[in-house]
Amino acid sequence: MTSTATSRVVCPGSFDPITHGHLDIIGRATRMFDEVVVSIGANSTKPSQMFTVEERLAMITEVCARWPQVRAVSFTGLLVDHCAEIGALGVVKGLRSATDFDYELPMAHLNRQMSGLETILLPTAQEWSAVSSTMVREISRFGGDISALVPPTVAEQVTARVRVEGQR
Ligand code: PNS
Repeated sequence: MTSTATSRVVCPGSFDPITHGHLDIIGRATRMFDEVVVSIGANSTKPSQMFTVEERLAMITEVCARWPQVRAVSFTGLLVDHCAEIGALGVVKGLRSATDFDYELPMAHLNRQMSGLETILLPTAQEWSAVSSTMVREISRFGGDISALVPPTVAEQVTARVRVEGQR
């Protein structure tokens, strides 16, 4: 018997901005699931932002255009409610280090406790294990080269934003 069921997962995050590390996880998720929804959520512990949600959505859509089964959305409120609304069977997140694991595990436990939502933690490719959006913003703000950490269009937009910030 053939099944027509679609496996849909969410790659959630702040994506401020999206990095090669995120893209590694999204790309690997496309090889395991039919649909990958990249969902921008609010992280209450990270108030400082470089890009608006609309700007992040546009960037993600552009750099994920190579994968027809990927779309970008934003959500407010709980991740479990967002996943229920769009019919996602679970979330896929990258693990760079033991620190990430300590941060992700309680969220995975709580999300499963609240709604049964599954969390799949994928070890990040080693080449991206030191890359974070926070470091991309910081390196760029101090004049460093971020071209190896993010796609060219993202690097251009970060550099332009840093220039505007410097004029304020
Ligand atoms: O890229 P980040 O900052 O690690 O992403 C964190 C994010 C946005 C995925 C996480 O903070 C989240 O799920 N926020 C939505 C609110 C929520 O569900 N909080 C309870 C988690 S147990």
